Amino acid sequence: MDAIVLLRDDHKTVEKLFKQFEKTGDEDTAERRRIADQVVEELTVHAWIEEQIFYPAAREAAPDTTDHILESIEEHHAAVWMLSEIKKMDASDERFKAKMSVLMENVRHHVEEEEKDWFPDVRKAMGRNRLAELGQQLEAEKPKAPRDPLAVPSATA
Ligand SMILES: [Fe+2]
Ligand SMILES: [Fe+2]
Repeated sequence: MDAIVLLRDDHKTVEKLFKQFEKTGDEDTAERRRIADQVVEELTVHAWIEEQIFYPAAREAAPDTTDHILESIEEHHAAVWMLSEIKKMDASDERFKAKMSVLMENVRHHVEEEEKDWFPDVRKAMGRNRLAELGQQLEAEKPKAPRDPLAVPSATA
């Protein structure tokens, strides 16, 4: 699969989980826990494959996107720390929903920048064959990705 299509599919999966979370009420703590755990896992794997494979390849193919990529890494840094807190925090904690809301705001902003501001330049620079090859690498990396958000390189970089 085309690498950018794969990454956009991940974004859609996460957006669906965000919408589900937004439908929950304060009494649905078990449901909030279940959704939040899925969000943590999806975003951890996604950030990992982007940082390990896609971002370096994008930077090499389209050096003009470097500033965008560096900003994206800083956004990952903030996101993975938030994910690590969400993972540990009790879903009945009065701060849980607020923490999820800030995460969702930040991730939506991040995804919009990836999809609108710089993925199109990467697509142009790489071409179909390279994107297909990279998509295979991303797919192969997914099962090897950690489930701990703080194991993502940007957490400590
Ligand atoms: Fe990203
Ligand atoms: Fe992404």
